[in-house]
Amino acid sequence: PRPDRVAPALARWYAANARVLPWRARPGEVPDPYRVWLSEIMLQQTTVATVGPYFHAFTGRWPDVHALAGADDQAILTAWAGLGYYARARNLIRCARVVAGELGGRFPDSEAGLAKLPGIGPYTAAAVAAIAFDRPAAVLDGNIERVMARLFAEETPLPAAKPLLRRHAAALTPTVRPGDHAQALMDLGALICTPRRPDCPRCPLVGDCRGHALGLAAELPRRAPK
Ligand code: ADE
Repeated sequence: PRPDRVAPALARWYAANARVLPWRARPGEVPDPYRVWLSEIMLQQTTVATVGPYFHAFTGRWPDVHALAGADDQAILTAWAGLGYYARARNLIRCARVVAGELGGRFPDSEAGLAKLPGIGPYTAAAVAAIAFDRPAAVLDGNIERVMARLFAEETPLPAAKPLLRRHAAALTPTVRPGDHAQALMDLGALICTPRRPDCPRCPLVGDCRGHALGLAAELPRRAPK
């Protein structure tokens, strides 16, 4: 797959097919790092459909990082109930207080700076750097791993394939609008390049997909037996 073909084809598809999600900036709007961060923490182990109402509740009640940092722990934990994994909520509170206090309310705009904050691992640091600050970070979630494994017909099973898939994702990341590129890959994985029955005829990348050319798309990524 050629980056000079994949990124533009994906960008055109995304312009017409992006999911409307509550944490996304509309075209032309500047993303709010607080909302991007909050959504990525909520989405770590929870589906898009479940997160929606929680995201609305949180941003309605605590519209910025200062409001969240000043809230009672118990109020936040109660509002979080149902999302599960309370460690995430504990780290959310700690992170909000560091950003609101030591950082003057501004989230770091680099992957390395973000990764130092409580609750922000490599995936979330890359996602926030890309989506909130348009940094060309290679974002790799489960959807994007699957898309990369298929585009490059990567036969190495997961999890060993992760570093290879990360290099493939980096090779395809454009310097223009890398945040949209990351979200476009997420949407492609959710809408077209689905786990069981990928809808290859409707895929904007079908002409560049080695997995499809080899008749392997639906079988990838392979997984090491447990
Ligand atoms: N899953 C994790 N982050 C996401 C995002 N920004 N958009 C859609 N799905 C996601």
